[in-house]
Amino acid sequence: MKAIVQDVYGEADVLAVRDIPRPVPKTGEVLIRVMAAGVDPGVWHLMTGRPYLIRAALGPRRPRIPVRGRDLAGVVETAGPESGFQPGDEVFGTCEGGSFAEFAVARADRIARKPAGVPFVDAAAVPVSGTTALQAVRYARITTGRQVLVIGAGGGVGSFAVQLAVAAGARVTGVCSPGKADMVRGLGAEHVLDYHREEVDSRGPIFDAVVDTAGNRPLSLLRRALNSHGILVLIGGERHGTALFGGISRALVAAPLLSLTSGDQRLHGLLAKENAADLTELAALLESGTLRPAVDRTYPLAHAPEALAEIGRGHTGGKMVITLA
Ligand SMILES: NC(=O)c1ccc[n+]([C@@H]2O[C@H](COP(=O)([O-])OP(=O)(O)OC[C@H]3O[C@@H](n4cnc5c(N)ncnc54)[C@H](OP(=O)(O)O)[C@@H]3O)[C@@H](O)[C@H]2O)c1
Repeated sequence: MKAIVQDVYGEADVLAVRDIPRPVPKTGEVLIRVMAAGVDPGVWHLMTGRPYLIRAALGPRRPRIPVRGRDLAGVVETAGPESGFQPGDEVFGTCEGGSFAEFAVARADRIARKPAGVPFVDAAAVPVSGTTALQAVRYARITTGRQVLVIGAGGGVGSFAVQLAVAAGARVTGVCSPGKADMVRGLGAEHVLDYHREEVDSRGPIFDAVVDTAGNRPLSLLRRALNSHGILVLIGGERHGTALFGGISRALVAAPLLSLTSGDQRLHGLLAKENAADLTELAALLESGTLRPAVDRTYPLAHAPEALAEIGRGHTGGKMVITLA
């Protein structure tokens, strides 16, 4: 099968299309014929091996898993024992062995059935970004009437977070660059804040929840946008901070420590966990039309390096998807 592989860490030019053997599913796994594969910054981290801390898990000198890509949507080709799926089932979810390939193996508890009316391209845009946004909205206790600020509202996670918060009845302000303002309004945001002209605390401490996917503002500034009982959910930021830790220390150490002295405000660094139950919830929202993935661009498999280079620049609009069908 054809796949996008790499032998060393680096920028997008380390990626190449190569013929490699099809993977074989084990117990509790399925082999999926990939129809579309979503692109997200996590794939960029796996490609570059940055921040360096992640190489401890991925392989110190080169990535142990050479095929890139995690999100996928496709058709079950072979179902391993105890997977609960059948050949021909249309599914979407994540895989660890690489989805920028004609076939990929996924664990049955990391995929869900794709609703028949939802295109593969749309479904492939959802798993990592949609799950992250869903878990953020849940953690931030976003309910009817809440004032919610989504920073990075025009990006992958942000575009889902805006829609999910609106669906929960919140009044959403999206923060983005001016070129994405119409798109963010189209997702349901009541207000749009152009961060080139206005900072997120400029309207005072009015927000019940702040969902930060951009990750490059000081915690003190983010707290000034929150009311006294507000909840801050930190999602992005690993491209900032030190070369070793990126934003990990800010989200997983600084935020919880500061939370101890921040009164009734709560500061939380989210580490999203993909799972079948959340994918099934997202599938229902896709089927009802409540959630519409903001797919901005598609690329054929051989052009995956361009998509990775684009996401590495950090100003993507909506989602990019690799198409194989
Ligand atoms: N914690 C987790 O479990 C988890 C899970 C998924 C993703 N992530 C991380 O979350 C981050 C966002 O992911 P994503 O998929 O949404 O990335 P993305 O699609 O690249 O979107 C990032 C968005 O942030 C905007 N942005 C950049 N600088 C900004 C600034 N200073 N202020 C406001 N917005 C700014 C960008 O566009 P404009 O600047 O043009 O507006 C872009 O739309 C990444 O760092 C990713 O690795 C974490």
